[in-house]
Amino acid sequence: MLVSGTGSILDAMIEAGVPVALVVADRPCAGLGIAARAGIATELVERDRFDGAFDRDAYSSQLAQTLVAHGIDLVAMAGFGTVLTQPMQAAYAGRLLNTHPALLPSFKGWHAVRDALAFGVKVTGCTVHIAGLDVDTGRILAQEAVPVLDDDTESSLHERIKAVERALYPATLLRLISTIESESESESEGVRLP
Ligand code: GAR
Repeated sequence: MLVSGTGSILDAMIEAGVPVALVVADRPCAGLGIAARAGIATELVERDRFDGAFDRDAYSSQLAQTLVAHGIDLVAMAGFGTVLTQPMQAAYAGRLLNTHPALLPSFKGWHAVRDALAFGVKVTGCTVHIAGLDVDTGRILAQEAVPVLDDDTESSLHERIKAVERALYPATLLRLISTIESESESESEGVRLP
């Protein structure tokens, strides 16, 4: 799992029994502490800068190398604050997942909750998807709606969305893992899938 923030979704993954082998952060954050307390290996692949001179490809390549070195099969971003580029797709295309606090393709980007509120939508939600090369694109695996209340602030709405993400993301990942496992069992038994 890739984290940058409070790690509450990581915590929910652990609680739900998702087999998390490694937690990587791009900056020191609470998520690393949650992983360490759960006895999960951690790596800090720290960003050296947050301005326009940040080398996104070099960072993505360094991250991919770290994940491959740990033998990671499936990567799940949960509030990861660095947009990843081609070297991560080269290593993990189709195996890189994300959760986004809006109903994609609406309100892409880092301020999805604020943007949905500002637009005045009455329903928003969250999306679990395979991460494509462009930010907040890729095949949608699951979505759930969350109503916007008249007195919502960005933080009250985000908290209700996160409550949904904490159930939807682990459930989606567990379903995906069991599909992958049963496909690879069928392949090793020589069964042809439809
Ligand atoms: C989640 O709401 C997640 O969808 C969002 O960050 C939050 C992480 O919460 N991610 C994005 O906005 C990515 N575009 P957490 O740090 O408490 O797990």
